[in-house]
Amino acid sequence: MTDTAGTGALPAEGLPAARVLDEIRALRAADRPTHGGRLFAYVYDPGVAGLDELAQAAYAESAHVNGLDPTAFPSLLAMENALVAAAARLLGGGPGTSAPDVVGSVTGGGTESLLLAVKAARDARPDLAEPRIVVPASGHAAFAKAAHYLRVALDPVPVDPVTLRPAVADVAAAIRPETVLVVASAPSYAHGVVDPVAGIAAVAADAGVRCHVDACFGGWALPWLRRLGAPVPPFDFAVPGVTSISVDLHKYAYAPKGVSVLLHRDPALRAPQYFAYADWPGYTMVNPVIASTRSGGPIAAAYATLRHLGEDGYLRLAASTRDAVAGLAAAVRATDGLRLMAEPESTVVCFTADDPKLDLFVLVDELTARGWHTQPQLRHADLPASVHLTVTASVAPRVAEFGPALADAVAAVRAAGPVVLPPELVALAGGLAPEALTPELVAGLADGLGLGGDTGVPERMAVVNTLLDAAPAAVRERLLAEFVGLLQRPAW
Ligand SMILES: Cc1ncc(COP(=O)(O)O)c(C=O)c1O
Repeated sequence: MTDTAGTGALPAEGLPAARVLDEIRALRAADRPTHGGRLFAYVYDPGVAGLDELAQAAYAESAHVNGLDPTAFPSLLAMENALVAAAARLLGGGPGTSAPDVVGSVTGGGTESLLLAVKAARDARPDLAEPRIVVPASGHAAFAKAAHYLRVALDPVPVDPVTLRPAVADVAAAIRPETVLVVASAPSYAHGVVDPVAGIAAVAADAGVRCHVDACFGGWALPWLRRLGAPVPPFDFAVPGVTSISVDLHKYAYAPKGVSVLLHRDPALRAPQYFAYADWPGYTMVNPVIASTRSGGPIAAAYATLRHLGEDGYLRLAASTRDAVAGLAAAVRATDGLRLMAEPESTVVCFTADDPKLDLFVLVDELTARGWHTQPQLRHADLPASVHLTVTASVAPRVAEFGPALADAVAAVRAAGPVVLPPELVALAGGLAPEALTPELVAGLADGLGLGGDTGVPERMAVVNTLLDAAPAAVRERLLAEFVGLLQRPAW
């Protein structure tokens, strides 16, 4: 990248377009495969021919349009309003429903939608010195981030280790006079189970508190699965007491990254989400979302994706996804020593190991070596470590290959045996105070584990995952933050 004069991305003399694109393609070669149905996290691939090209063209059309001022670029406002209407309609709102006044905003992603749901709830209660939110332990980490950014206290509610859901009574007990928001997931990311939304929304409403349903992950999948006959419990605006819902279009709506929708049951609930500022000499700023300048690219690409796929397209994709989930779950059930964490009820297959000789982290590596990229999840509270598969429509044609690959990988894991860390390292990881993890110590540790230098992350991560698994959350957080800090260095 730096073979010409200049530094990093900026050569002394500009390069021809073809050469620049070649550079990007060469860099992309090291990435995990975003298409092809073998990557079970990070990406959402419908496997629809021509859809990428359409989304890219739409993106390019609006990439330079700025969402900062909807009056300057009415095209963007029109597309945003159309996306919000589609999401609201899919999630039980709009004219003729029990939530006719639903309004919303398009944000840059799920985390931004959740931050704004928490901000709106917090700012609706300026009388509270120490606002709090109640979040099931299975709620997305973005709520902890929102609490941290917005200085709101987080009251976690444990989840049952069998059902993987919080008990409504526990949610009710966690609500205090300072609670501004109660959260439910539909479904949770880690295990793909839908929380008891009706019960949670009811206890929130009884206490006069907002209830946000985080449907970032599944909000664009569950309604189609329900139409196909799946027993999806009520989770949307049809449920009394649900005050806001988030749904990410860059997940199961299959739009390119950078687009989510945050809906509120009515405009008054949304009002405290906005930020306006007129007390400076520049333009008066009104921001419904966190970003001020916003590219029209993701919005136009999402608009094009929805218009092209249509309800019939999403139904077909949901049917393929459902069949893929069933096939993957069957492969897990057929494997001695593996156990589904929950019977799949959405688009996630999540399993754990009952047999200590079947090391899940080695299994993840063995699957990677066979071209199947799954996501390890570390143990948490009463929950064991597990392997997560986000299933999308593109997986369907590959499902038949997964069972044999899994069997082969499991045989290799049994032959290799579990990772055994030196006991003193396990004791160190378990007993360290996070403050003791200096940048130098983490750099030394990373080097020792083969994670140092410019070689990137090694294919085999079982040792690292085993070490992280042995550490308490605060140590994991510090280790990972320091490690990512090591990766994020200027490319001089
Ligand atoms: C349930 C849930 N909420 C929120 C998020 C955060 O979304 P994003 O990564 O787009 O910020 C995710 C992401 O996977 C999710 O699954």
